[in-house]
Amino acid sequence: MRKALVTPSILSADFSKMREEFQTIKASGADWVHVDVMDGHFVPNLTFGPPVIKMFRPHSDMIFDVHLMIEEPERWIDAYKDAGADRLTFHIEACKHSHRYLAAIREKGMASGITLNPQTSPTEVEYVLEECDQVLVMTVNPGFGGQKFIEPVLEKIKILRKMIDNKGLKTQIQVDGGVNSENAQRIFEAGADILVMGSAFFKSSDKKALVEKIHNLNG
Ligand code: DX5
Ligand code: ZN
Repeated sequence: MRKALVTPSILSADFSKMREEFQTIKASGADWVHVDVMDGHFVPNLTFGPPVIKMFRPHSDMIFDVHLMIEEPERWIDAYKDAGADRLTFHIEACKHSHRYLAAIREKGMASGITLNPQTSPTEVEYVLEECDQVLVMTVNPGFGGQKFIEPVLEKIKILRKMIDNKGLKTQIQVDGGVNSENAQRIFEAGADILVMGSAFFKSSDKKALVEKIHNLNG
């Protein structure tokens, strides 16, 4: 039976008290920590890069699932490994040779991921799926937390699920953007394995119950 994983996005955390925020994530029973990197070019917002992630690293023993929303991600693979990333995902729209970069990420000992903006067809990743530990399906336009889930993208999750299963691969499907306790069941049923939650997680008054609810989804 499939089980959904939860990875809270620290984009919605309080950056003035990250040590506590990492403890809160751990105590909730969530699976990984989702770390959003934005460069102000690929997306119209700016967050942080490798030096800050390196500072976060000693404050959490959880898996750092790093989502790069940056141009030329291939230039930074070593830097994110060095900063402590366990999983590294980049946007297919930001590069020319995704197959090569996915392999480079795995060679560095990280799990490899590729991301699709809402507009991007699932067929774009069809021939590189074997190199992907995860495909991240964006269900909002990347750049900001707290946006509304884009419903038609649910269909893309279903198509990707079939594609991965038909090829007999273990690639996981991650869904990021506007995920909450109301739409989680539908997203999971469509074929998602990992749910990223930013605002829904940090706004929740009972984070443990929220995570438990996601872990208990079935369908
Ligand atoms: C958006 C980021 C997301 C963001 C999700 O560009 O990639 O990870 O934090 O936030 P919510 O869950 O609030 O949509
Ligand atoms: Zn993200």
